Amino acid sequence: MIHRWIGILLCICFWFQTLGTTRADDLSLGNLSERKTDGLGEIGVKECAACHSAPSPIYEQLKVTRFIRLVEAKEWFERDKHAYAYHLVRQDLPESDLERPENKSNKLSVEIRKRLKWPVGQVGDAMFQAKCLTCHAGVDLSLPSPSQEVLQTNLQFGVQCEACHGPGSEYTKTHQHQQVSWRAKTPAEKSKLGMWDLASPSTCADVCLSCHLGSITQGRFVSHDMYAAGHPPLPPFDLQTFLDAMPPHWQTIQNKPYQSATDKQETREFALQSEYYAANYDLQSLGTTDKIEQAIKSSYDRTRRSMIGGLVANDNGIKLIHAAAAQAQKEPNNWGDFSMYDCMGCHQELSKSKVRWRPDSRIPGRAFPSNWLTLEHPSLHKTNASNHDRLTNEMFAAFNSVPFGDSKKLAALSSHHLVSLADRFRDRNRMERQIMSEADVKHWLQVLLADREEKLTDYWVAKQTAWMVTVAVKELVDHGVLPRNAIQANLDELSQLLSLNLQIPRDASVLDAQKNTLEIAGSFDAVRCRTLIRELVETALSTK
Ligand code: HEC
Ligand code: HEC
Ligand code: HEC
Ligand code: HEC
Ligand code: HEC
Repeated sequence: MIHRWIGILLCICFWFQTLGTTRADDLSLGNLSERKTDGLGEIGVKECAACHSAPSPIYEQLKVTRFIRLVEAKEWFERDKHAYAYHLVRQDLPESDLERPENKSNKLSVEIRKRLKWPVGQVGDAMFQAKCLTCHAGVDLSLPSPSQEVLQTNLQFGVQCEACHGPGSEYTKTHQHQQVSWRAKTPAEKSKLGMWDLASPSTCADVCLSCHLGSITQGRFVSHDMYAAGHPPLPPFDLQTFLDAMPPHWQTIQNKPYQSATDKQETREFALQSEYYAANYDLQSLGTTDKIEQAIKSSYDRTRRSMIGGLVANDNGIKLIHAAAAQAQKEPNNWGDFSMYDCMGCHQELSKSKVRWRPDSRIPGRAFPSNWLTLEHPSLHKTNASNHDRLTNEMFAAFNSVPFGDSKKLAALSSHHLVSLADRFRDRNRMERQIMSEADVKHWLQVLLADREEKLTDYWVAKQTAWMVTVAVKELVDHGVLPRNAIQANLDELSQLLSLNLQIPRDASVLDAQKNTLEIAGSFDAVRCRTLIRELVETALSTK
């Protein structure tokens, strides 16, 4: 306990120290450009916090703070669960402190490691870093290892800025992202300099999913051994719901001040702002500047993020299977980790529910991949869908051909499949640059329900679908299309039924929000859940 508080106190001291040194002299910050230049690397949260904790006068003058608020690091530190992700699992607390109720996550973390039979001491610590802290402290095994100093601070701070925004060694150099001209850069240009374009829902979802689903290249994977040792089962993923629960430290594109380029008081700053929109939306199709502003402000962006996030989760689920299959070609014994399959396929004794759904394509008794990940997601564009469907069917056939799937077939299939996913990615990029209208939202809800109604007996499918439908109907309420009281009772009951709430205090354990997921998954009232979701969609569609 004392240890934890010392840790937190140290963090806070360090925090105020960085607040005190906020640099007012920047746009041409010399010392940052002296950092290492070979390839891209992480520079550490301390650097980001030096500018992003409080607006400085020079930036106010430049009207930078109208565009971003420059308090992002402070908000992340004070409110974001990711700033706590390391403290919840750290294993260096004295044994006696582990018994305190507020340290139950740490206790579980220590127990998981013991049950995995990882050695005590340095070897075990290194395993903890390489297999657990990749997610719980954002250690990225696909990047060159940062300096010891940066690594140690990053570890302390859990999932920090660069784990989501990308390695900062290039874009924080003088004359780079600190300047208003950065806004006009295309997402591709930003990314070349290391900054991932999180304003794009597909890039953003891809980043989140690297931990919230897993990424083999980045060393982020929750194995069945870890689950059996006590790691809570990862929930499914809905981008907008997860963003809301972080909670956000940003202004959405609609909240950023917009000034049309034809305005008389046009300044370079405003002009760049419209270039920022141009980089993110297909403005040509929107016509005049008045219309652009109106369209952007009235766009259903929250639903769009849910829709695109679902597609990316589907893609990444397939990529994870292929990456595992490819790895198994080099290490033949390393195939078939149970965590890749549908948990309920094996943990059937826990299932008390009478209604069940099994994919038609599945031979009874075969372990199949998680349903929520391999379900096709409806989207507004479906070019190349038949090719993708064919490949997905081939993937299922490979899972049917021998128990636990034929990794050789899957590895061989992967190159075609990944090309097809890249095609879909391009479609998505087009979709992202378009405005989503009320009619689009309703159409999507209708297709989503039609595709999934029978499949809502799977807990993970039900949970993801419920999150998505909730986002969409709430956005219809926000736009004045739907009265809130028409949906509130259903939303409340659904939230209760499926433990949808992610807004738990950030220093509280996720175990408080949901105990024994497998048992809930086997016994939740699937019939009621389906009725509630159907009613929500029908109510939304019945508005004119
Ligand atoms: C020297 C000060 C400084 C440092 C250091 C700094 N930033 Fe920034 N950052 C800024 C300013 C100023 C802007 C706003 C520029 C503008 O108005 O367009 C900005 C903008 C951003 C944006 C929004 C860019 C966009 O395209 O929407 C992100 C994201 C960001 N910073 C992340 C980071 C991260 C992560 C780090 C650390 C690796 C970092 N910054 C370090 C000053 C800084
Ligand atoms: C868990 C992921 C995550 C972490 C950690 C994170 N961010 Fe962000 N950040 C985001 C997302 C998502 C956005 C929103 C992008 C969008 O929709 O435009 C964002 C937006 C921003 C923006 C743009 C603000 C605006 O108003 O447009 C800045 C600046 C920023 N972050 C800085 C930081 C800094 C500094 C840190 C570390 C102290 C940090 N972020 C940590 C995910 C993260
Ligand atoms: C480097 C890994 C990593 C990345 C990237 C990441 N997260 Fe997380 N996130 C975590 C970990 C680890 C936790 C669990 C913290 C805990 O409870 O111990 C977490 C927790 C959360 C929670 C709370 C979950 C709950 O059940 O209460 C939300 C919400 C969340 N993340 C959203 C996001 C979003 C949105 C993004 C992308 C913008 C993102 N995360 C990116 C690692 C990551
Ligand atoms: C192919 C069958 C199979 C699949 C799929 C599977 N498990 Fe298991 N699981 C087992 C077996 C067998 C055991 C008992 C042996 C052991 O502990 O390894 C077990 C044990 C467990 C335990 C320990 C508690 C207990 O009941 O013994 C947990 C928790 C668990 N699994 C979670 C999961 C989760 C979460 C998933 C899905 C991500 C999953 N399992 C998928 C077969 C499976
Ligand atoms: C692929 C990323 C990933 C890996 C690898 C990973 N975790 Fe987690 N872990 C998470 C996420 C995400 C959550 C939060 C789950 C949720 O939202 O319900 C979590 C939750 C936890 C919790 C519960 C935290 C709480 O709030 O009570 C513990 C303890 C934990 N992990 C320990 C570990 C240990 C120990 C390892 C290594 C053996 C490990 N994790 C590996 C992503 C990961």
